[in-house]
Amino acid sequence: MRHELLDWYDRSKRDLPWRRTDDPYAIWVSEIMLQQTRVAVVIERFKVFLERFPTAEALAAADEQEVLALWSGLGYYRRARMLHKAAKTIVAEYAAKMPTAAAELRKLPGIGPYTAAAIASIAHGEHAAVVDGNVERVLSRIRGWESYDSVGEAAVLRKVEEFSAGLVDPHRPGDFNQAIMELGATVCTPRNPQCLVCPWAKECRTLGEHKTPKRAPMTSREIACALIVRKGDAGTEVLLEQRAATNTVMPGMWELLLLPDGALAESDVRFTVRHAIMQVNYVVRVCEFREEDLALLKSNGSERRWVSLGKAAEMALTGLARKVLGKLRPRSTISIQQRSS
Ligand code: ADE
Repeated sequence: MRHELLDWYDRSKRDLPWRRTDDPYAIWVSEIMLQQTRVAVVIERFKVFLERFPTAEALAAADEQEVLALWSGLGYYRRARMLHKAAKTIVAEYAAKMPTAAAELRKLPGIGPYTAAAIASIAHGEHAAVVDGNVERVLSRIRGWESYDSVGEAAVLRKVEEFSAGLVDPHRPGDFNQAIMELGATVCTPRNPQCLVCPWAKECRTLGEHKTPKRAPMTSREIACALIVRKGDAGTEVLLEQRAATNTVMPGMWELLLLPDGALAESDVRFTVRHAIMQVNYVVRVCEFREEDLALLKSNGSERRWVSLGKAAEMALTGLARKVLGKLRPRSTISIQQRSS
């Protein structure tokens, strides 16, 4: 099975920027970005992030707002905060040298069993198995393991972990781990798996008949935000508000002022954008307000700041704010446009 998979990987693997390096720091950044974010988006953002923060030391020295700004649009900002925190720990406690063993890596903030095994196997050849959602799907299909509830799910995961620990190639553990994830991402996909081209079709008990658990359905919500602009010395300025530090979602990030439910009727909807955050599809009405109308928008005590569009692009904006501001000057404000999709 190892040979079949590795031969297939050698022939079919995608040429991805983090596969051209053996720098553990770069591999770490890529693995964190790849959690919850599509590969096409990560390719772009990975390069920009590494140009600005080429080492753990450079990342540790940065201001958190700048790290978040560079993460803007990738979502799940806790990942960026933990990455930053772990970089500081590496500088303070490991003399700026990343630990190499998976067991040691796991002591760092934001590095769990998956990330530790990925870095240690890919960058250092440690014989450690990686289990992510792709690996779990591939191996449970091979064996025909199905689960019908959370107890069953936990049992399947345990069996998968045991199976993968025995399967991982001792000579090329990093390639093996990447190969199995690649197989899950490109061939053994959640829907319509391509069994005809699968290197493991001969070993597979289910061949496309496996019942993969369905994702939680997306829900929809309508919200409205206020676009308040004025002419400033540096051109158009927009009013932004900072999310409270105590907010569980995207604390400390900058966004447009949100309108209370029902405040929409009197105001002018300039345009509508769609934005997905986790399992929610937001339909966002962007309403134009004049500076004089500001009194209508009650402050919740958060800091508000007038910033030029150029400056805003460098701030830790939420993905939604970046998308909305990108629509203001579609041709001239390249840098503020969503770099993701
Ligand atoms: N998903 C997350 N990390 C990956 C990697 N290194 N190769 C393929 N798929 C991945």
